[in-house]
Amino acid sequence: MTGTPSSVPGAISQAVPPPVSEPTARHQIRVTINGSDVAAEVESRLLLADFLRHRVGLTGTHLGCEQGSCGACTVLVDGAAVRSCLMLAPQVDGREIRTVESLAEPDGPLSVIQEAFTNQHGLQCGFCTPGFLCSLTAFAEEAEEDGRDISESDLDAQLDSSFCRCTGYVNIRRAAREAFGFDSGDTHG
Ligand code: FES
Ligand code: FES
Repeated sequence: MTGTPSSVPGAISQAVPPPVSEPTARHQIRVTINGSDVAAEVESRLLLADFLRHRVGLTGTHLGCEQGSCGACTVLVDGAAVRSCLMLAPQVDGREIRTVESLAEPDGPLSVIQEAFTNQHGLQCGFCTPGFLCSLTAFAEEAEEDGRDISESDLDAQLDSSFCRCTGYVNIRRAAREAFGFDSGDTHG
């Protein structure tokens, strides 16, 4: 083939220079995490999940898909279940975070939901478990705050919020049903 690249249809005619290294903005944040006040300097682009895991040392929050699908990274922000892979650390300035580590004291009794997961063997590898526990905790607290009864179909819909790649969901569903006061026997398999 003859001719310069720019003469070929679709060819790149201009090289784009490499990215200029720019200083990343940093932010001072103060946040309450599991009841403790935390102050930190964070980069603009730092994910909340990475902040919790790598800066605060709360590794109970897991990262699976990192795109908002699997739910493994779910934490509570001001009481609401949030995907911490979709939130940036600077966005939690002044807010209250609760992670799976907050659901029971290290040597204290398990929460009702944790107890039900234990009773019903609602986990295998446990990777998804923090997400289920946090999302179900937020679900229960929101319903209580609103004075709203939770139906069985509400609970089933809530379980769609997280993926489990091990269990087939049968025991997770049994655990959730036990925790929310329904018959834990599973008739749908
Ligand atoms: S890691 Fe956040 S939703 Fe999967
Ligand atoms: S228990 Fe392994 S991914 Fe759910």
